[in-house]
Amino acid sequence: MLATSAITGKTKIVGVIGHPIGHSLSPAMQNAAFTALGLDYCYVAFDVSPDDIPAALAGMRALNIVGFNVTIPHKPVVFRLVDRLDNSAQMVEAVNTVRYDAKGMVGYSTDAEGFVRPLESLGISLADKRIVIIGAGGAARSVAAACLNRGAGSIVVLNRTPEKGRELVDRLKRLAQPAAGHLPVLDAIQLKIGQAAVSEADLLVQCTSVGMSPLQDAPPPISPAWIRPDSVVYDLIYNPAETRLLAAARAIGATTINGVDMLVQQGAVAFQIWTGIDPPVDVMRRALLNGLGR
Ligand code: ATR
Repeated sequence: MLATSAITGKTKIVGVIGHPIGHSLSPAMQNAAFTALGLDYCYVAFDVSPDDIPAALAGMRALNIVGFNVTIPHKPVVFRLVDRLDNSAQMVEAVNTVRYDAKGMVGYSTDAEGFVRPLESLGISLADKRIVIIGAGGAARSVAAACLNRGAGSIVVLNRTPEKGRELVDRLKRLAQPAAGHLPVLDAIQLKIGQAAVSEADLLVQCTSVGMSPLQDAPPPISPAWIRPDSVVYDLIYNPAETRLLAAARAIGATTINGVDMLVQQGAVAFQIWTGIDPPVDVMRRALLNGLGR
């Protein structure tokens, strides 16, 4: 973090709006990166009540704040209030990062890119892969968009509520049409009857909150016995570091990835959007793990 004595008349401000926001790890992660690069920026967490969002957005503009992240519960309203949507936000119909420019607020979503980068760093490509996504909420939408854009062979959405899974698949079908050259097989299946899909998957992505601290002892959303030993299991949960699903997948011999690097990388993309500079990702990861007490 910038020492308060280092804040000058020229320091640029970025931040996050949420409600509540006190437990956010983003200030530690982003400020560590600014400090490491000697950039004169400071990242601040703002607790904004839902009624005050329009005033907060106008106020940040008036104060020449560079941009901000958006977290629960403000994502839907900010999505509607931005002046322009970057393609990344259009794809997932969500905004988690905003940058002010001369014409107003530009909304981005950095989650899909954040999801893909940890796979890429392991040399794992999504092209032609059989992918199963567990969940159909906001996180699943970002993951599904990333899989669609990167040429997945098939995408099966497993969800507790089948209608919501079907809605996501219908969205993917609409998104896929303009790029008709490659259309993956798309399907929605009820979570409980997903055995065949999971046992055929090259990549299983867990996008629900099942197994997240403090309920880390809850049973995994699918039976780990369905997992193939030569598959990759990616759980977006970052706390605990190893969910029950990941522990079981590792015991079976699967490659496992937790949500820490996705969280770091979605922050790294936001940093790039605000500053135009690639951040030191290792510094950000260390700050995040430190904040998690690891
Ligand atoms: P996020 O934005 O983090 O993705 P969300 O939009 O609330 O969160 O979505 C949560 C997802 O987790 C949903 O797919 C939800 O399933 P339903 O559509 O059936 O509600 C899923 N989920 C949450 N708790 C679950 C549980 N105990 N078992 C199975 N799925 C669960």
